[in-house]
Amino acid sequence: MPENLMEKVVSLCKRRGLIFQSSDIYGGLSNTWDYGPYGIEIKNNLKRAWWKTNVYERNDIYGMDAAILMHPKVWEASGHVQNFFDLKSDCKSCKKRLKTADLKDKAKCPECGGQLTESRPFNLMFKTHQGPVEEAGSEIYMRPETAQGMFVNFINILDSRHPKLPFGLAQIGKAFRNEVTPGNFTFRTREFEQMEIEYFVKPSEADAKLEEWIEARYNWYLDFGLRKDNLRKRPHEKDELAHYAKACTDIEYNFPFGWSELEGIANRTDFDLKQHAQASGKDLQYFEDATKEKYYPYIIEPSGGVDRSVLAFLVDAYFEEMVKDDLRVVLKLHKDLAPTKVAVLPLLRNRPEIVEMAKKLAGDLKKSIITIYDDTGAIGKLYRRQDEVGTLYCITVDVQSLEDKQVTVRERDSMLQERIALDKVKDYLITKLS
Ligand code: GAP
Repeated sequence: MPENLMEKVVSLCKRRGLIFQSSDIYGGLSNTWDYGPYGIEIKNNLKRAWWKTNVYERNDIYGMDAAILMHPKVWEASGHVQNFFDLKSDCKSCKKRLKTADLKDKAKCPECGGQLTESRPFNLMFKTHQGPVEEAGSEIYMRPETAQGMFVNFINILDSRHPKLPFGLAQIGKAFRNEVTPGNFTFRTREFEQMEIEYFVKPSEADAKLEEWIEARYNWYLDFGLRKDNLRKRPHEKDELAHYAKACTDIEYNFPFGWSELEGIANRTDFDLKQHAQASGKDLQYFEDATKEKYYPYIIEPSGGVDRSVLAFLVDAYFEEMVKDDLRVVLKLHKDLAPTKVAVLPLLRNRPEIVEMAKKLAGDLKKSIITIYDDTGAIGKLYRRQDEVGTLYCITVDVQSLEDKQVTVRERDSMLQERIALDKVKDYLITKLS
């Protein structure tokens, strides 16, 4: 791991337009981040990869997209109004708000030595008002997890798609938590995206399905390139389980700031469906044809963070290498996650025939492959720029190309170069990228 890896990744993100501080020109809003042109591509690629594996490649999972704003009763029934708390203490001197669990000395502020207040529960849900008047009854919450949008639609899916157990719902979307101690770049923020699956199973099969999902999700991170040494599974102790969970295993990544959760896979039992059935008065049981039995399915929930995963993939892919006395920074992202697949670079930008050939090639490739054209620097600089954002192939058009109608294709990780005929280059790249 390079020294100061986290600082280097944060600096690269800003320098190359992956991730910026939100509202930067106003001094920034703390712990809030905006994804720039390359960052959004990586994030979208990651979400697409997750969706492909979990929705398109399976027969038993349906995608959906529920609203962020939900009926306030959802959060009473789910237990979030009563249970979704962190204990916090305030410093009487510097006014800093601290999470009690993080404090070694519960009475003294670690920042200024000031006296701390008694610890108090602090609900993590963001409240807002619906409608033009802020009055009692108009209060609603920004969802703290996407999960509830799927539980409340369970019956709609049964009625419209008639699935048999086991089946699941999958959703990717924003969630909001008024975290007491956000930090570590995009790792813990107050606004973030989740990718969640709610997998409904027969209660007697829940333990086995939980194990299956832990394996599937662990392997997914490996398949998309995280190094095995940096990934582990950590079963929860009984006292750290969420109020709804009977068992949970976290998939953790070895971030520069230590092993931390990427995704939790929990057995939520029938807690949520029972709670919503009771609060709404609707029958949310499943009727099993074969046995004529009616029951509440158990729910296995693989719940990951999009932003956290993007960060893990960035950190894992960051390499520094010495190439002919020069430091090369390269993001060795998996081909499906790399933001740009191909860059077309004219060797001489003052030769109109070369520029024309390069622009034409880029235009042709763009129709089937994410390609950019760049002629804003010398070739060494252009390569370095593309390596830093993980572009898989750089194509240079040179003087020779004008005569032999061939271009040089350079592969990112090995830096090996091959001459390929101009009319074969698209097929060559499509084969490599598939
Ligand atoms: N529905 C279950 C649930 O929300 P969670 O462990 O609280 O479980 C699931 O959250 C995932 O969401 C976490 O593993 C993490 O990746 C992501 N996550 C949670 N809080 C986050 C935060 N404040 N910032 C970024 N990601 C967060």
